[in-house]
Amino acid sequence: MTTVPGRSVPGLGTLRHHHEESAAFHRLLLGPTMVCSGGYWEDGERLTETLDEAQERKLDRFVELAGAAGARRVLDVGCGWGTLLNRLTIVHGVEQAVGLTPSRAEEQFIAGYANPRISARVESWEEHRPRDPYDAAFCINALEHVVPCATPPHERAERYRAFFTAVAGALRPDARFVLHTLTVGARPVDGRLLDELRLLRCSGLGHGRIPHLHELARATEGLFEVIEIVDEREAFAMACRAWSERLARCRDVAVVLADEEAVARVERCLGILVSAFEDKFFSNVRVTLARL
Ligand SMILES: C[S@@+](CC[C@H](N)C(=O)[O-])C[C@H]1O[C@@H](n2cnc3c(N)ncnc32)[C@H](O)[C@@H]1O
Repeated sequence: MTTVPGRSVPGLGTLRHHHEESAAFHRLLLGPTMVCSGGYWEDGERLTETLDEAQERKLDRFVELAGAAGARRVLDVGCGWGTLLNRLTIVHGVEQAVGLTPSRAEEQFIAGYANPRISARVESWEEHRPRDPYDAAFCINALEHVVPCATPPHERAERYRAFFTAVAGALRPDARFVLHTLTVGARPVDGRLLDELRLLRCSGLGHGRIPHLHELARATEGLFEVIEIVDEREAFAMACRAWSERLARCRDVAVVLADEEAVARVERCLGILVSAFEDKFFSNVRVTLARL
């Protein structure tokens, strides 16, 4: 497997105010690939030791499903720290990979790769209007931010619809769109779950909404053909366990990069996510779509 070199991230200080520190903390937590979503481990592999391979394997599988190798233009909605953008161009021969993110920290970090074939735009999916259609698109665990949690019930379906309409509008006919998203499962609600969900509010998931699969199916009707839906709950739970192990091993450095409170919050959130996956309250589904 070809490994794309990571970018070294200097800097110490508080996590909140500077993009280099934010990147440094995320690199410490997520490993050199800095992928903030589930990975594909093979049987018998040790979680933390093979975190990067598991993430690269996942990205490569997504590229394969999207038929993106050798493509001219590819879109990544919610591109994180740019690992998929880099991999598309360096390993998979894509000419131009464009990422969307609302985060200046992520945009500046990606600019630091100085890879002329990738670009990150500080733009939401709603604002992005490409002049030239894309040949493939990805959205890896960013759909959870599409519907703000304060959205009234009657507007949620419209917002998911607007999202899939925007992505379909950016793609050429027959192009594939591969997404990974948390979905809500079927665990009964009890007091423990309510406490845990309240704690999760202060994580990155706090402002978004985790959909039901049927909401997504409805939102894609007439825009995309559904090629495949796979439940990959365990892939995300394994990544959370690997990040927890990494954090435990380098906790002292993490506390310097962020602070004790922020580190404790991440530890709590990872623990809650793992139990929410194990209890089947959350799933993480991979959906492969083809633009009609
Ligand atoms: C959990 S991270 C996943 C990042 C990356 N796809 C990965 O797998 O590592 C969620 C990403 O969604 C981005 N995001 C949040 N709201 C967004 C929006 N309205 N439009 C585009 N991206 C958004 C965040 O900045 C972040 O990059």
